[in-house]
Amino acid sequence: MDLAQKHKKLERNITLLAVGSFIAVAIGGIVEIAPLFWIDNTIEEVEGMRPYTPLEQAGRDIFVREGCYTCHSQMIRPFRDEVERYGHYSLAAESIYDHPFQWGSKRTGPDLARVGGRYSDEWHVQHLQDPRSVVPESIMPRYAFLSETDLEVPDPSAKLLALARVGVPYSKTDIEFAGADLVAQANPELDSNNLQDRYPKTQIRDFDGNPGRLTEMDALVAYLQMLGTLVDFDSAEALEELAAEKGR
Ligand code: HEC
Repeated sequence: MDLAQKHKKLERNITLLAVGSFIAVAIGGIVEIAPLFWIDNTIEEVEGMRPYTPLEQAGRDIFVREGCYTCHSQMIRPFRDEVERYGHYSLAAESIYDHPFQWGSKRTGPDLARVGGRYSDEWHVQHLQDPRSVVPESIMPRYAFLSETDLEVPDPSAKLLALARVGVPYSKTDIEFAGADLVAQANPELDSNNLQDRYPKTQIRDFDGNPGRLTEMDALVAYLQMLGTLVDFDSAEALEELAAEKGR
């Protein structure tokens, strides 16, 4: 009996065929799943990523609260048109401290993953207060009330502690100083307790153009201005090239 004959037998017996199919699919499944039990991390780390400062995190919470994600994604896909418009495509590691992440493909407005540093603080404040005053054809809603609303984070330390519990590497000092850090980032005159050492590349200044007051606008603009600014893409690119070399 040659092989074709043997296979005929398998094809004509429904039970045998079902058992055979199951075994074939199970082998495929194990090959895909089993390695995940032995590797610690599926996300390749990149240099420069750090947790959000308390002020950036507060801004992020406002971003989520106001539903900015219903019109804006934060994920640049690896397609030429996106990369040319928004910059280097997003890496998984860039969302590593995001709870919840802000990916998505629904874009009524542009992607914001790398908007940090693209505009001045004044532009952001003006744009959020009245989008049509800077982009006449804009359909974005106004968020002028953010400039009039004092930033209130009931317990900044508890916020960081909660994030630490789900894996964000805040240190004991970060958690302890969370309340002070929150205020210090928007007021260069205060003692920052080494904020920039603990959170590299932190931008310390008054963000909303109203130095006397810490508003929700300060937090949101601080957040927008750091988006996509942490990873140095020259070195990330160098790493990628290296990885590609090795794979060859
Ligand atoms: C109804 C949809 C909608 C919502 C909700 C929305 N936006 Fe927009 N946004 C837009 C559109 C459309 C544009 C492009 C026109 C413009 O610049 O105003 C835009 C532009 C922007 C830009 C400029 C981006 C760039 O690269 O030019 C920023 C920053 C921004 N939005 C932030 C926010 C924030 C923060 C929120 C939440 C507080 C928000 N948006 C809510 C629709 C929206």
